[in-house]
Amino acid sequence: MKKIIVAIDGFSSTGKSTLAKQLAKRLQYTYIDSGAMYRAITLFFIRHGIQFNYHEHIQHALSDIHLTFVDNKICLNDEMVETEIRSMEISNVVSEVSALEEVRNFAVTQQQRMGIDKGIVMDGRDIGTTVFPHAELKIYLMAEEKVRIQRRYDEMHVKNDRITMDEVKDNLRHRDYIDSHRTISPLRKADDAIELDNSVLTMEQQLETAYQWAMKKIESK
Ligand code: DC
Repeated sequence: MKKIIVAIDGFSSTGKSTLAKQLAKRLQYTYIDSGAMYRAITLFFIRHGIQFNYHEHIQHALSDIHLTFVDNKICLNDEMVETEIRSMEISNVVSEVSALEEVRNFAVTQQQRMGIDKGIVMDGRDIGTTVFPHAELKIYLMAEEKVRIQRRYDEMHVKNDRITMDEVKDNLRHRDYIDSHRTISPLRKADDAIELDNSVLTMEQQLETAYQWAMKKIESK
């Protein structure tokens, strides 16, 4: 059967990675979490004290970064950093880092390489617009803000029981703003993307909807 590229974009905590992971499994495709790549780059910058406004330092730092995925988990220079990249410390600055031109060029080049043979589900902010503008299926995932805040809070609270709903809300709004207003590849719905609002859908319902859309594209190839 012919393989396609599925691009899933949307704001933070709309459930992109959950859907992308499940859809990839069902289609027997590779799942790539592009946000994890930006988070791992941010972790490297923090660990090495890289200042975000020194462009020469950034370019130099990027040449020391090697990103891979092992069982859907991101590795930074062969160290699995899946837990470290999900901290609030990273969430607070990842949008600034991912708005940098050098960082975007670095990540997008690798993402495009990962999709050369198709058979991939990638989620992020610019997958359908910049990384794979010719992806056969583009899904723009949406959910009401209060639903997104609650989901994010539940996820963060397991790791840090002192986190407050207001902190989560502020971080989410701050990231939404930067992600959709930055100069390079801001988050926007691609013209040919299909909207999927999962505010009141179960995970099974959302997966089934996306799977049917994917199968239709695969069968029509
Ligand atoms: O999906 P996430 O919340 O883990 O993504 C972390 C940050 O990375 C997000 O605030 C914006 C950025 N990002 C991006 O700019 N482009 C992507 N394709 C994916 C994520």
